[in-house]
Amino acid sequence: MSEPPAAEAAEPAALAIHTQDLAKRFGKTVALAGLTMSVRRAEVFGFLGPNGAGKTTAVKLLVGLTQPTAGEAWVLGAPMGDLKTRQRLGYLPELFRYQGWLTAHEVLALHCRLSRLPRARWGEEIELALQTVGLADRARDRVSGFSKGMQQRLGLGVALLGRPELVLLDEPTSALDPVGRHDVRDIIRRLKERGTSVFLNSHLLTEVEQICDRVAVVDHGRVIAKGTMQEILGKQGAVRIRVGGITGESAALQPFGAFEVEGEWLTFRGLGEDRVPELVSELVHRGGRVYAVEPRQETLEDRFLELLKESDK
Ligand SMILES: Nc1ncnc2c1ncn2[C@@H]1O[C@H](COP(=O)(O)OP(=O)(O)O)[C@@H](O)[C@H]1O
Ligand SMILES: [Mg+2]
Repeated sequence: MSEPPAAEAAEPAALAIHTQDLAKRFGKTVALAGLTMSVRRAEVFGFLGPNGAGKTTAVKLLVGLTQPTAGEAWVLGAPMGDLKTRQRLGYLPELFRYQGWLTAHEVLALHCRLSRLPRARWGEEIELALQTVGLADRARDRVSGFSKGMQQRLGLGVALLGRPELVLLDEPTSALDPVGRHDVRDIIRRLKERGTSVFLNSHLLTEVEQICDRVAVVDHGRVIAKGTMQEILGKQGAVRIRVGGITGESAALQPFGAFEVEGEWLTFRGLGEDRVPELVSELVHRGGRVYAVEPRQETLEDRFLELLKESDK
């Protein structure tokens, strides 16, 4: 699955992120095995993969927290790790914990100091971050009394200080309940509206499905698919049929393509809608009793599992 030529041809400077054969080993463990990809400006890009695929390693390389074993990358047009460029990045680590005795406002002020924002801007930046993540009315409360969702929103607030052009979020929703996840998706949408580029690591596919413009699927440290959600999923649908009273009909149904059986449910993948009546009539003809016929759009999760299976071959 290749990207449109425009993105590939674009200068690294015009992209939010561009990596070329980026590799990282820890001793014998290959965390990244030659990662090549581009993230455009002002897009929400999902970096998906199972645990251990190399997602966190990629983000740490991009923000300059660790050095690559081989390969190159550019972030906002500068070589990765560039100190000056780091001020234009926001980063939400996978695991973080703020001092419980500090208030939300104090945490944000501490990070303004750490990121060397001019003091005159602190007030305004903290206010904007609090507003964006919906913690304005909790600014003076201590972190120790915050729920996980609020802590995650505070983490996002920290990542937004200084209005970065690119934010890298490592599993921003994995610790959250559905309400918290919804809130985080809203925050990400708001960032995109402002023209901020978002690079989002996640193993939670439904999250990503809803907000990402484009995704890369990574497994064992390499990209196994990339493109828009539609390119990844393909346009083919599937149909699920609940039918009783037929057994051993596999051969007869083969003309309708590959299918799976789960109890009375048959799922046909890649079967065009125009062939459904024919299939139902065939089932009935063979003595089947058809109780339900449901179209089923392939989800990212289905596709993801297929991709992982293919890549393990
Ligand atoms: N500091 C480290 N030392 C040794 N191995 C590491 C280190 N960080 C990551 N790894 C290994 O690199 C691989 C990729 O890890 P990671 O980037 O954390 O994956 P993900 O974020 O996709 O779950 C894993 O096999 C992990 O055990
Ligand atoms: Mg990780």
